[in-house]
Amino acid sequence: MAKLAVLASGNGTNFEALALALEGGAHRLVLLVHDRKDAYAQERAARLGIPSRYVTWAGRSREEAEAELGAALSEAGTELVALAGFMRLLSPAFVERWAGRLVNVHPSVLPAWPGVDSVRRSFDAGADEFGVTVHYVDSGMDTGQVIAQRKFRRWPGATLEAVETRVHELEHGLYPRVVLEMLDRVDAVRDRAAIGPGASGGPAEGGAR
Ligand code: GAR
Repeated sequence: MAKLAVLASGNGTNFEALALALEGGAHRLVLLVHDRKDAYAQERAARLGIPSRYVTWAGRSREEAEAELGAALSEAGTELVALAGFMRLLSPAFVERWAGRLVNVHPSVLPAWPGVDSVRRSFDAGADEFGVTVHYVDSGMDTGQVIAQRKFRRWPGATLEAVETRVHELEHGLYPRVVLEMLDRVDAVRDRAAIGPGASGGPAEGGAR
């Protein structure tokens, strides 16, 4: 079993898609952290019986906020962190601490249209392609290494609302799939480490040294 935590700032549909994908399976969604008090994601967490915690960035340094975030993640035993509409840049130190175990979903085919409001900005600019990206998080704005992407072309008569709906459908399908695979890998790596050389109870014990 591997433990996932989700960071969200707003509505939380991706958080809920992750929660539903994990329900009844091998892994656990142990914590939602939200940085806006009124984030609707928090109500979804309450409905789903998932613990949530509000961490504010207001009126203090990023390091202070991230220290509280890091402590909350550790207390919950977090092994993988998924950003789901979390609208903040994390510091290089935080990103380094979670390297390889910090992922994000973004509503464009990166590197095109990083930042906020990507679907509306690309739609208004007349883009003929839309999509979603799951990527590792680094300290830049949606610049981390791409893990998976899905895209589709603008169709005749497409409205912004219809494109947004399609983008969300793609996110809700792709993100849980990628995160589940990563949780499986976290599990496998931990189990390998537990039976590796020098670990108590592992096959190396009593063997040739
Ligand atoms: C999602 O579309 C996500 O890709 C986007 O925020 C939305 C959150 O929706 N994230 C970014 O733009 C990150 N740069 P949700 O709260 O319903 O999951």
